[in-house]
Amino acid sequence: MSAFRTVGARLSLALLAVVALVLGLVYVIVVPSLKNRLIDARLTDLDRAARTLAAEYKQNPNDPDFFSNASASTNARVVLMSVVSESPTLVTPGPSSVPGKALGDFTNDPITTRTAETSHLEQGTVKRDGAEFAEVSVSIKDGSGNILLLSAPLHDAIADVDAVQRRMLFAGGLALLVALLVGYTAARLFARRIRRLERAADRIAGGRFGEQVADRSADELGELARAFDRMRLRLSGLDHARREFVANASHELRTPLFSLGGFLELLEDEELDEPTRREFLDTMAGQVRRLTKLADDLLDLSKLDAGRLHMETQPVDLGSLASAAVDEFAGVARASEHPLEYAGNGGAAARGDPQRVLQIVRILLENALVHTPPGTRVEVSVRRAGGQAEITVTDWGPGISPDDRAELFERFYRGESTKASGSGLGLAIARELAELMGGRIELESKPGRTVFSLVLPAAEVTREAEPEREPVTV
Ligand SMILES: Nc1ncnc2c1ncn2[C@@H]1O[C@H](COP(=O)(O)OP(=O)(O)OP(=O)(O)O)[C@@H](O)[C@H]1O
Ligand SMILES: [Mg+2]
Repeated sequence: MSAFRTVGARLSLALLAVVALVLGLVYVIVVPSLKNRLIDARLTDLDRAARTLAAEYKQNPNDPDFFSNASASTNARVVLMSVVSESPTLVTPGPSSVPGKALGDFTNDPITTRTAETSHLEQGTVKRDGAEFAEVSVSIKDGSGNILLLSAPLHDAIADVDAVQRRMLFAGGLALLVALLVGYTAARLFARRIRRLERAADRIAGGRFGEQVADRSADELGELARAFDRMRLRLSGLDHARREFVANASHELRTPLFSLGGFLELLEDEELDEPTRREFLDTMAGQVRRLTKLADDLLDLSKLDAGRLHMETQPVDLGSLASAAVDEFAGVARASEHPLEYAGNGGAAARGDPQRVLQIVRILLENALVHTPPGTRVEVSVRRAGGQAEITVTDWGPGISPDDRAELFERFYRGESTKASGSGLGLAIARELAELMGGRIELESKPGRTVFSLVLPAAEVTREAEPEREPVTV
């Protein structure tokens, strides 16, 4: 990266530009106004002195020391100018009293000329022999037409301004240097922190989640580092879940495949009697069913993860759906000796996808039949409360321990006491499907009674309420 494209260089240049701009503005505004104020102050002094001196001279024009005293007290040259001829010329004092200056210096003096024209007091600055003077001229008004001229050199004031100018330039240079140093150091510190974040991002992108992204500052970069660290923890969790999922899925696939392979070998034995062969084939069919269910579940989960599971949102009559599910499981329940019934307690319409609602009820019903001992009563019921509609599967089995309850909905989690050969995916799928429909799965369990409810948003039913059904008992 070119040196001028780094954040550090850009920050220091920006700081430098701001300081230079501020100094330039101060210089442009302060220096000329300071000079004008000094000249104005000098002219005001001269103005006041000129009025007094004109009055004094008019009263006593023959005082031989008037001009030397006036010059000393005003710190300016005080001369008398004649305007009888066309151009103003010096009358008094003579050339000797103006040391180092030729007489012609004051001839045609512009300020005196203005007074000659207007007869008023005039003031201004003039340049003579390369030097600048503040001048005030005032008419004596004694009938002679003579004018008193006060001319003060401005080199002191200009020297003061020059000194201020020099100091400002020096201070400006120093400020720029400090700005450059401070900007560069601050920018280096920032750049170092940004590079640390960049390295952390590279580490995370490379799948190395072990090292914490640390920056304790309270500023935006600190916030960014903390956001990075949250991302690291989340990605690390996801990565862990992904690895666990792959490991669990392969394990779940391997077990029935291994068993199928074993039975295939056994079936090759020609001496097998027919009943044993039949038994082996039944077990193999069971393993194939298990594999098919596992493949379906894994497919559903991958669709859920990819957000590709299609959901139809429409009014679903939970009553008829519950009754259909109970009918579907009647055979299985009879085989496993579970009294199964639909408590036909009126209808309830929910908003959701009928196929997915049925899938969830199947998962809950299968669990109630598989994870409870034979003889356990199982009941399905529906209910509408407020803006929600529920379908509930209740069993009077041994219940679920509090330890299991916390993780029951995790993928591949099987209860400690579970003897059945499930994969632990049913409840995980049920919960994700319910959430996709804007609902949830609720669980209440105590020894002797377990209640799983699918709670969905209620739908307004436009058609006439269904007639009350008789409880279906299998
Ligand atoms: N009605 C219930 N009574 C007692 N335990 C239950 C009940 N329902 C679920 N469980 C417990 O919850 C665990 C997780 O259930 P889940 O449906 O997710 O997986 P599974 O039934 O073991 O396997 P799969 O559903 O994938 O075939 C079960 O292993 C079981 O221990
Ligand atoms: Mg299950």
